[in-house]
Amino acid sequence: MNLRYLIIVLVILLIASFCTSKKSDSLKDAFKDKYLIGTALTDYQIKGNDPKSLQTAGEQFDVITPENVLKWEKVHPAPGIYNFGPVDSLIEFCEKNNLAVIGHTLIWHHQTPEWVFKDKEGNQVSKDTLLKRIKEHIFTVVGKYKGRIHGWDVINEAFEDDGSFRNTLWRQIAGEDYLHKAFEWAHEADPGAELYYNDYNMWYKGRRNAVVKMVNEFKTKNIPIHGIGLQGHWGLNYPTVDELNEVFEIYSKLDINVMVTELDLDMLPRPEDYEGADISVNYEAKSVLNPWPDSLPDSMQTVVADRYAQFFTIFNKYSSSVSRITLWGVHDGQSWRNYWPIHGRTAYPLLFDRNHQPKKAFFEVIKTAQQK
Ligand code: GLA
Repeated sequence: MNLRYLIIVLVILLIASFCTSKKSDSLKDAFKDKYLIGTALTDYQIKGNDPKSLQTAGEQFDVITPENVLKWEKVHPAPGIYNFGPVDSLIEFCEKNNLAVIGHTLIWHHQTPEWVFKDKEGNQVSKDTLLKRIKEHIFTVVGKYKGRIHGWDVINEAFEDDGSFRNTLWRQIAGEDYLHKAFEWAHEADPGAELYYNDYNMWYKGRRNAVVKMVNEFKTKNIPIHGIGLQGHWGLNYPTVDELNEVFEIYSKLDINVMVTELDLDMLPRPEDYEGADISVNYEAKSVLNPWPDSLPDSMQTVVADRYAQFFTIFNKYSSSVSRITLWGVHDGQSWRNYWPIHGRTAYPLLFDRNHQPKKAFFEVIKTAQQK
């Protein structure tokens, strides 16, 4: 009788200790001596429609990037019209939960309304007018949140893979001046905020060289820049470990913060690997391209976990230069990977599953934090 009682108590104690140990695993605590850990929140989450994600955000992360609410089309949809409501909600939530905020993004060629580049007659505006519009946008948005936004992605994706300037309307109309001016005006509007250049495929030699050249030029000209963001939309086989080591080695010598700003793992089959596929259009989900519609088998959980551990092992190695790693979403269900480049697939790109539970990848990532 006594023995049975003892066994029951022991089992209860064991279960309790298991639960508390799982609950106490947090990304932000695990990496607190290395770098900040961030996540991204969708407009839906910011509105409060997914409270579990907000809870995870508060428990696990140091810093939040809004996926959309600070993009030009959302925050400044028409001339003179600003939509600050959703941004205010996000910032209030973050301040209550001791989370920093990243302003994403001031100047990008996507999600910018057409009116920005046109006059009343529908003709393309002059350089002078475009620069005035950029200045007004930056002073209004950055100025409004002065002291409350930790850092801004000032420019998103200004270069092509080969390192040439992307031929956007910004560039066509305003030349390279828009880049310099955007950083200078953002600094004037909030001298305390960090300012970043953010882009994808940052390990491609062409783009990498262009970014290094730009940072060095900014330094010579005294244009403020505090960090570069590697978006980190990476796959199972790209970039390779060697490519990542090489690029972190190079960027860490720039003596500014290096960040991974939109990390997620493209672990579904890639349409371009199949004949006739064209990723510029959305395809009907096909079984070959959507192999795990209901759940991810253990073997694949391990593949995802190992790849994440590989990433974090590299981040840890360069932790003296790396200031932040941001995952592009809290849980698999919210990820853009479920609808791009093909709509209607079930993707598993993040560290928490659709039920908000930590995945194997989460625990493997936490383990790497022990690395020196
Ligand atoms: C780019 C942008 C992000 C987001 C992703 C796709 O990386 O910087 O804001 O739109 O594309 O989700």
